[in-house]
Amino acid sequence: MSIKNIVCIGAGYVGGPTMSVVAQKCPHINVTIVDLNQARIDAWNSDSLPIYEPGLEAVVQEARGRNLTFSTDIEGNIAKADMVFVSVNTPTKTFGKGAGVAANLEFIEKCARTIRANASKDLIVVEKSTLPVRTAETLEKILHAGDSKYHFEILSNPEFLAEGTAITDLHDPDRVLIGGRQNDLGKAAIQELVDVYANWVPNERILTTNTWSSELSKLVANAFLAQRVSSINAISSLCESTEADVGEVSRAIGMDSRIGSKFLKASVGFGGSCFKKDILNLVYICRTYGLTAEADYWEQVILMNDHQQSRFVDKLVGTMFNTVSDKKIAVLGFAFKADTGDTRESPAIHVVQELCEEHARVSVSDPQALGYAKTDLAGLEEFVTLEEDPYKACEGADAVCILTEWELYKDLDYKRIFDSMNKPAFLFDGRNIVNHQELYDLGFNVYPIGKGELSHL
Ligand code: UDX
Ligand code: ADP
Repeated sequence: MSIKNIVCIGAGYVGGPTMSVVAQKCPHINVTIVDLNQARIDAWNSDSLPIYEPGLEAVVQEARGRNLTFSTDIEGNIAKADMVFVSVNTPTKTFGKGAGVAANLEFIEKCARTIRANASKDLIVVEKSTLPVRTAETLEKILHAGDSKYHFEILSNPEFLAEGTAITDLHDPDRVLIGGRQNDLGKAAIQELVDVYANWVPNERILTTNTWSSELSKLVANAFLAQRVSSINAISSLCESTEADVGEVSRAIGMDSRIGSKFLKASVGFGGSCFKKDILNLVYICRTYGLTAEADYWEQVILMNDHQQSRFVDKLVGTMFNTVSDKKIAVLGFAFKADTGDTRESPAIHVVQELCEEHARVSVSDPQALGYAKTDLAGLEEFVTLEEDPYKACEGADAVCILTEWELYKDLDYKRIFDSMNKPAFLFDGRNIVNHQELYDLGFNVYPIGKGELSHL
């Protein structure tokens, strides 16, 4: 069999960009992305895509109408598919057993039932969503339960793209990981998917493993990356207490080829839909197997991240004479990182909430994320205003906090901002992206992460 029709269920941050690139690189395969959410599908079919991702528009424009289709007809498209990708959301459970830790597999399970009910031939089903280990087993049980006369072969193909760089990550991945059963049917299905990626990914970068290794590798990759950020953040406070500079420390240790230079930027904390969720999955699975020390070890990566966010607010309040009540604080950046409008688990949410608890007047600005900010900060309208223009956000403010490393914040006219602010004017750089000495020379009292403050006070 050779794959001619691919359907992806879920048109989100993972499914949308990934399958658009598959369509772009495989003009001989029809790719259909389906979703329950009509508004989302309409946006994918319009000129204003539902997610902000550099380079995505060009890819969609090239493939849409040729071999890339966005649709809400889930059943009809599954009936035509040779291969189905499952790319629905798998948030952390907020209720019942495992609340706050385990993944909510409700959407995955619903997909499995829909696939079973609508398949018209044997199918390869590919897990693309981030999932706890052994979800393939669950999928398989549901797909093969009941009276379906077809065979479903499950593959795990975790996504390693990072938001903001999704298109380059997809065009030129470090590796593509495909896990499946190590028998004839499993190996044949793996080969079908290898053949899809081989249209643009060099063979040596396509890695095949058993299903469980593939599922676990996704969680472990994110846990290791998050651990690096938490590790350097743990050092950042020590640097602030001593005369070390965390940027210099990062550089010095990063030049050790055994350590490497990436993911060593101290910050206000990591966010995003994956890191926390994946570590929680890892913690949960360790606890399930009675591995308490291992669970505690990984949980510490998250606790350190919570601490880093609270520490940022504590420092701000402490510096501003122990009160921010009725002071205006401008927050520049609400997305969890630059080049995305996504705010899931963004440290900015936590910081703004804590500032509101202190009764500050918070003015939030972001070039892409204000839509989500409105929802994330619902109920805090008494204290929060959303302001597209960063200069307006800073007008009359006592302090400016930079929480997302958007390029645009590096190049603002800080003289203009300083002149418009209350004095003393404070700047807390949660991403270490501006020139601290220059801002100090303009008159700001500057508080970076992980290095000494530059204060006139
Ligand atoms: C991550 C993984 O990188 C990706 O492989 C996986 O598929 C999904 O999860 P993403 O969440 O999009 O991707 O963003 P990433 O670039 O990993 O950043 C995560 C968070 O860590 C961001 O909030 C970022 O600002 C923060 N970070 C990253 C730091 O604070 N310091 C760093 O040095 C690197
Ligand atoms: P991710 O970052 O993992 O891509 P998103 O929340 O951005 O997560 O996207 C997941 C998408 O999956 C959403 O657009 C949601 O509407 C869709 N979805 C969830 N459950 C189903 C389902 N049973 N059938 C079709 N689409 C679904």
